[in-house]
Formats: sequence, C-alpha cells, structure tokens
Amino acid sequence: MNPAMKMNPISIRATLAALLLATAGASFAHGDVTPQPVDTQGLPPLGDVWKPENPYRQNAAAAKVGSSAYNQNCARCHGLEAISGGIAPDLRKLDNECAGLKDAAKKSACVAEMDTYYAATVRKGKVRNGAVYMPAFDGTMQQEAVWAIKSYLETRREKPL
Ligand code: HEC
Repeated sequence: MNPAMKMNPISIRATLAALLLATAGASFAHGDVTPQPVDTQGLPPLGDVWKPENPYRQNAAAAKVGSSAYNQNCARCHGLEAISGGIAPDLRKLDNECAGLKDAAKKSACVAEMDTYYAATVRKGKVRNGAVYMPAFDGTMQQEAVWAIKSYLETRREKPL
C-alpha cells in the first residue's frame, strides 16, 4: 500500500470503525480481530509458492517490517517485543533447541525445520476441538509478511544461534 492510500477517506473510516469496535469491547483474546495489512514493499518478492525456510534471514530491512507487522498482528497475544505475558507461547524461545547444537549442518537443519513449523502455524493458526487459540493468517498475510516477522523474531531470540 502506498502512503497516499493510507490517507484516503475509506481507510480513515475503516480505522475509526476499528477503533470503535475495539472500545466497544470486541474480543481481542478470541482472535476475531481483522489482521492488519503489512507493507512489504522494498523486500524481495517471493512469489506464490511458500518457501520451506526463511528467505530473509539476516535481512535487517525485513526484520524492521516484521517488527511492526508483529506488533500489529501478534503482540496482543504473544506480547510486546515478543516477551510473552503468559497467554501464548514466548516466541523468543522458538529456535532454542537449535541453539544448543554444535554441528553447523545439524543446526541449520534444525532452524529450517522450525521455520517450516512456524510458517505452517501462522498460516493455519491453532485450532483444537473447535476452539481458536490462534487465528489462521493464510489468505490475509502474504509470505513476505510472515517471513519478515520471523526475521524480526530471530533478532529477539532468547539464545542467539
Ligand atoms: C489470538 C491470540 C493469538 C494471536 C493474534 C497470534 N497467536 Fe500465535 N499462538 C497463540 C496461542 C494461544 C498459541 C498456542 C496454541 C496452543 O496451545 O497450541 C500460539 C502459538 C503460536 C506458535 C507456535 C509456538 C510454539 O512454541 O509451538 C507460533 C509460531 C505462533 N503462535 C506465531 C504467531 C505469529 C507470528 C502471530 C502473528 C502473525 C501470532 N502467532 C498471532 C495465540 C495467538
């Protein structure tokens, strides 16, 4: 979305409506809040086929986009700056089990596996016995945004690799 579009009356109205809904007590905890669009312009486009692991690793621009995307879409459950308050898992720990591996090849295989799990979870959400613990982001969040968020989370790792 270009900056001019953000200022048009329709999005202002949408923003106001969202604010009204929020103050009216729309249930954030149940995940029924519209996902926020993420502006990934400037990041290398990734196409329609999902990558098996983070193509933006070490990409500072992606981490920056991911930081704001995280705060708008994930922080209400997973905590500001990825520090969980306990409602949802602490995503700084996501790659913890890989950090302990000495062998470089095993470590990168471990990280790749976690990436696959991460992307699948974000796309499908977490639903058990009909209860939505986490909403699915497939269709509302493109893979550029999903991987940008992972790049941000990698800057927040509890145990840097
Ligand atoms: C409505 C609250 C909510 C939102 C919003 C939410 N999550 Fe979650 N998420 C959860 C909960 C709760 C779990 C644990 C579910 C379970 O018990 O299986 C979870 C689990 C996860 C997991 C698996 C963690 C693990 O250790 O297995 C990942 C990865 C994840 N979320 C990423 C995200 C990302 C990235 C976003 C934003 C794009 C997001 N979540 C938005 C509530 C949420």
